[in-house]
Amino acid sequence: MPERWWERAVVYHIYPRSFADANGDGIGDLPGIVSRLDYLEWLGVDAIWLGPTFPSPNADWGYDVSDYLGVHPDLGAPADLERLIVEAERRHIRVLLDLVANHTSDRHPWFGDPEKRDWYVWRDPKPNGSPPNNWRSAFGGPAWTFVPERGQFYLHNFLPQQPDLDWWNEEVRAAFDDILRYWFDRGIAGFRIDVAHALVKDPLLRDNPPARPTDAPSWQRIGQRPRYNVGLPDAADVHRRWRRVAREYDPERLLLGETYVLDLDALMQYVVPDGLHLCMNFPFLHAPFEAGALAAVVAETERRLPSWATPLWHASSHDDPRFATRWCAGDEELARCALVALLSLRGATILYQGDEIGMEAVEVPEERRRDVAGRDRCRTPMVWADVEGAGFTEPGVEPWLPIGPRDRNVADQRDDPGSILTLTRDLVALRRHRGLLTGAYEPVEAPPGVWAFRREGGALVALNLAERPARLDGVEGAIVLCTDRSRDGALVRGALDLAPRQAVVASVS
Ligand code: NOJ
Repeated sequence: MPERWWERAVVYHIYPRSFADANGDGIGDLPGIVSRLDYLEWLGVDAIWLGPTFPSPNADWGYDVSDYLGVHPDLGAPADLERLIVEAERRHIRVLLDLVANHTSDRHPWFGDPEKRDWYVWRDPKPNGSPPNNWRSAFGGPAWTFVPERGQFYLHNFLPQQPDLDWWNEEVRAAFDDILRYWFDRGIAGFRIDVAHALVKDPLLRDNPPARPTDAPSWQRIGQRPRYNVGLPDAADVHRRWRRVAREYDPERLLLGETYVLDLDALMQYVVPDGLHLCMNFPFLHAPFEAGALAAVVAETERRLPSWATPLWHASSHDDPRFATRWCAGDEELARCALVALLSLRGATILYQGDEIGMEAVEVPEERRRDVAGRDRCRTPMVWADVEGAGFTEPGVEPWLPIGPRDRNVADQRDDPGSILTLTRDLVALRRHRGLLTGAYEPVEAPPGVWAFRREGGALVALNLAERPARLDGVEGAIVLCTDRSRDGALVRGALDLAPRQAVVASVS
């Protein structure tokens, strides 16, 4: 089968409120994104995934949708989105929207519509008046809210303002088919599917078991293992249904799932024929930035993926602190290594806005915080230039979230051949234009602290994540790209030497 565009795509994740503010109100918007498309074309990305663009009361910053066919007025008008899709296409950049299907806003007309009562999960209290079961919301607190006028509780895996839809209801499934078609008809290339792993809940609403001391911090925080409200395999039926809709179009539309599960067993439930095209790999994101741990999770992912499946990698998002901070503690050499890894692995990769300049998570003072779940520090505005407003907004305008340090910025890095931005661009070009970074992933034995692998197309990728120099024996070839750009082009005869925190892509015989 010929390669499909997304099989080695670089998807650039834009958080629209924080990317570029064209109208000077301190909030990023769609015209702002249009104004930066030339930059994204220059960077070489294949697609952009826009965080939520729909009208929303913003209890969860767009992830509480009140109208699936509209555009949030903070971001622009429907015509602005149409223009963005057209302008992106002119630059060969595809547009993915963020489909929030697990829940709506409590202000969505469906929620108040008596005829759509069964579209949500309403249940009677227990005889003692307590909620129907023990499920906890991902943000803490019970996953049930009581409505006295109705005498019932409704389910919400997230905030009370985000009532969960009942995905066992055929009418809900049909309504979303239409939403998908509405946007596919408008020329988007596909959707990133929010909460793709938890759309369908246990129909018996069984209690979740308690968390164990060895469980992930997110489970310990809520005190339980979300066995019955998160990560059920039944969500794959919904994905398959959407895939049929995606196939009605030519080219077929893409379904990229936020499969936020913490182990590969759970992830593989969604890697099914005719389901999602791409599944986000959170075990990779959550792995420590150590050679052994990363090599292990990648090898295991590769081992378990069926031959037809494509891996998808990412290390930063609007939910999880940026890798430049989380993995690299601000060290630029390590951030360069992370970019080499992300862009050399087999499959598709998501870069989050700012990853390409080594942007870090920003401490947001308490009085400026906006998010209920403490995620503001990975949502601060993009740093375009070292000027007041950072090129994100006009000088003198207070941005909706504070702007972090401006020393790493696009303007300074763009024409600097040694910059992290140039490195990112060169890596993107390398994966696109030369065959080296194609084909199977093959682990290579390496000294402690070094993660090395080959790509069938002829690349050897070696990352020394340790604090001491390392040597990889048995390498003949040439360095195509090194995080220290002065080594680009150097020949390697027998042994590849790596400085501490240095990564290399070599062409090997
Ligand atoms: C995942 C989104 O990325 C996150 O920002 C949001 O809070 C939850 N889903 C709920 O929609």
